[in-house]
Amino acid sequence: MISFSFAPQIVFGYGCLNRVGFLSLFLKTQNAFIITDSEIEKLGFVNKVQKYLELSGIKSNVFNEIEPNPQEETVIKGAKEFKSTNSDTVIAIGGGSVLDSAKIIRLLVKQGGKPSDYNCKTSTIMAVHEMLPLQISIPTTSGTGSEVSIVAMVTSGHEKVTILGYPLISTIALVDPKLTMSCPPNLTAMCGMDALTHAIEAFISLRINPVADMFSLQAITLIYQNLKKAYLNGQDVIARINMSLAATVAGMAFNQKSVGLVHACSHQLSGQCNLPHGLANAIILPHVLRVNKKVSMSQYVTLATALGLDLTKLSDDEASERFILEIEKLNKEIGIPEKLAECGVKESDIAAMIPNATSDISAITNPLQPVTKELVESVYRAAL
Ligand SMILES: [Fe+2]
Repeated sequence: MISFSFAPQIVFGYGCLNRVGFLSLFLKTQNAFIITDSEIEKLGFVNKVQKYLELSGIKSNVFNEIEPNPQEETVIKGAKEFKSTNSDTVIAIGGGSVLDSAKIIRLLVKQGGKPSDYNCKTSTIMAVHEMLPLQISIPTTSGTGSEVSIVAMVTSGHEKVTILGYPLISTIALVDPKLTMSCPPNLTAMCGMDALTHAIEAFISLRINPVADMFSLQAITLIYQNLKKAYLNGQDVIARINMSLAATVAGMAFNQKSVGLVHACSHQLSGQCNLPHGLANAIILPHVLRVNKKVSMSQYVTLATALGLDLTKLSDDEASERFILEIEKLNKEIGIPEKLAECGVKESDIAAMIPNATSDISAITNPLQPVTKELVESVYRAAL
C-alpha cells in the first residue's frame, strides 16, 4: 500500500505575487501576520505584499526577525507577537528558515509550549494535532521545498529540532519565480543543491512511492539543466522558472519519501557549526552517494540516464560512479567548496555531531542500514 497527498494548493507563475491579496480574501483573512527576515524586507517584497493586501482591504503586521538557522527563542517571540496583534493568517515570505519558522509560530500560537516540546525525537507526529492558523508560504529561493512540506526545523542551542505534523503544511504555496531573480549566485548555488539533494535522497529512500519518484526524476533533470545557468546569470528567466518549479516538485517528493544520510549529517553541521543548510548538503552529498552506492546502484543508473549521460559500454558500477562524478562537477562549476574545512568546520567538531546525526530522523529512510556511528563518522571525515 502507498499513501500520498500533494496538498497544499500551489499557485505557480512568474509575477504571481500579485495574487496574494485575492488569495488572502479567499482564506477570509482580515489581519495578516507577515513573517520574514530583514534582508527580504530590504528587497521590497514585504512592501509589495502589504500593498496587495491593502488593495483587498486586509490589514497586516510584519515580524522581520527570523535569522538564518533560527533559534527557538525567535519563534517563541513571533508567536507572542501574532497573538498580541490579533492576527488571523500567517503570510511567510523568505527562504527555508522563514517558512519553517512560520509553521512553528502557528503551532505555538495554537498549542502553546516551546518548539523542543514537539521534537520528533521525543514525541510522535500526533503531537501536532490541532487545526493551526492558515498560512500562505511564498518562497524567495529555489531550494527548501518548505512551502509544500509537513516538516519544520528550528535550532535549540546547538541542536536542530525537527518537528513533523500534517497540520503544519501551508494552506497555499504561492511560488513566484520572479522573487528569485535577485538571489545572489552563492545562495542560488546552495539552495539549488539543497533541492537536488531532496530529489536524490527521496528517489533512493527506503520508502516506496512511484508517484513521488516521478517528481524526483523531473526535479533532478530540471536542476541539472538549469542550476548552472541560474548561477551564472541570475537574470535568466527560464532558468529561474525551471529552478523554482524543480525546488517545489522536489519538496513534494521528499514530503512523501523523506530524505536520508546527507540531511542527517548536514542538520548537525548547521546546528553545531552554523553552516547554511544547502552548503552542508552540497559538500556531503557526493560522499553519501558513494557510501550508499552498493545498495542504490540501479537507482543511480536511472538517475544518470535522466541526466542524459553517455553510459555506453559502462557497467552499472561505472555508470553509478559517472553519476557521482557529475554531481561533483556541478558542485565545482557553481563554486561549492570541496571540503567542510574550507567552511570552518574542525576535526574537533565531529565527535559532538555523530550521536545527533545517527539518531536524526532523516537517517531512518537512508537506503543503507543500519546508520551506525562509525558510518556517520566516516562520512564526516571523508568530507572534512
Ligand atoms: Fe534540505
